[in-house]
Amino acid sequence: MDINLISAQIKEELDKIVSCDQLEALRLKYLGRKGVIAELTGSIPAVNPQERGAFGKAVNALKQQLFVSLEEKQRSLGVSKAPAPESAETDLGMPGIAQELGHKHPITGIIDQVCGIFSQMGFKVLEGPEIETEHNNFTGLNIPLEHPSRDAFDTFYLKDYEKLLLRSHTSPMQVRAMAKSKPPLAIVVPGRVYRPDAVDASHLFMFHQIEGLMVDQGVKFSDLKGVLEVFVKAVFGKDVAMRFRPHFFPFTEPSVEVDISCIICKGKGCSVCGRKGWLEILGAGLVHPNVFQQAGYDAKKFSGFAFGMGVERIAMLKYGINDIRLFFENDLRFLKQF
Ligand code: DAH
Repeated sequence: MDINLISAQIKEELDKIVSCDQLEALRLKYLGRKGVIAELTGSIPAVNPQERGAFGKAVNALKQQLFVSLEEKQRSLGVSKAPAPESAETDLGMPGIAQELGHKHPITGIIDQVCGIFSQMGFKVLEGPEIETEHNNFTGLNIPLEHPSRDAFDTFYLKDYEKLLLRSHTSPMQVRAMAKSKPPLAIVVPGRVYRPDAVDASHLFMFHQIEGLMVDQGVKFSDLKGVLEVFVKAVFGKDVAMRFRPHFFPFTEPSVEVDISCIICKGKGCSVCGRKGWLEILGAGLVHPNVFQQAGYDAKKFSGFAFGMGVERIAMLKYGINDIRLFFENDLRFLKQF
């Protein structure tokens, strides 16, 4: 085989190439495993000893020349290979781009903290649906038909489905939990709730609550107080005082609102607590016998307590936030502070 001839032929073929596919075909033809160069290399031992050295060198030179030509052609076709690591374009000393690590949303953080505290006391964490029946949201909780919260303006009713609504509190999970299991029962339920409120610094049409329910034989008001005291001290600190104020809820009797001493002025009275020295944090009480009756529990045998708190309110008090809308604007300048 005449190497000069092959070399000339390669040049001729290269000149005709206009695409990468053609170039690849040429590369395979000459440099492939069964290509022309491999054939030439394989024929070296058969060449007579005087010419063998020169022939071998010529094959090698042809091969090197072919590499160079292929690369040149490739470049002229507009496909350059990646710059070699040591080339001037790649600065290996340049620092990398740091990945920013996210963290929990402050509302998720409070939910996890509060549920964690109650889990440690033996409460089970449950979640329930945001679309509820009128029965679970109202009737099963002893909320009478004439109660203002049943008004269409105070609850989001689902138009096409009779008696379905967006739950206005997490209390319907009391009804669901009692329908599903017999006492003893101790649950906390975090989740979203909805109310058609006009949006301002302290109202949103959607917010989060955590419901609590404990039912057993002999559950007393003092049990409620003890459990809530543990919760309050764990979230707001050991020096915070707690008080129960008489209140009314249809699903508890007696009912209370629970206050903590103002964490800003320590009870002296300031603008945050409206000069009262106390901040309301949740509603609670002993489960009303009518609620037990609806659930098919024996109200003479069992007693229990329930409570419900607004998560945004807890977060606002704990972190000193004065506008509820900040939680849902997704402004990283706000969120990064937690
Ligand atoms: N469901 C009440 C609300 O949304 C909060 C509440 C009060 C829940 C007292 C309770 C409770 O379980 O005992 O305003």
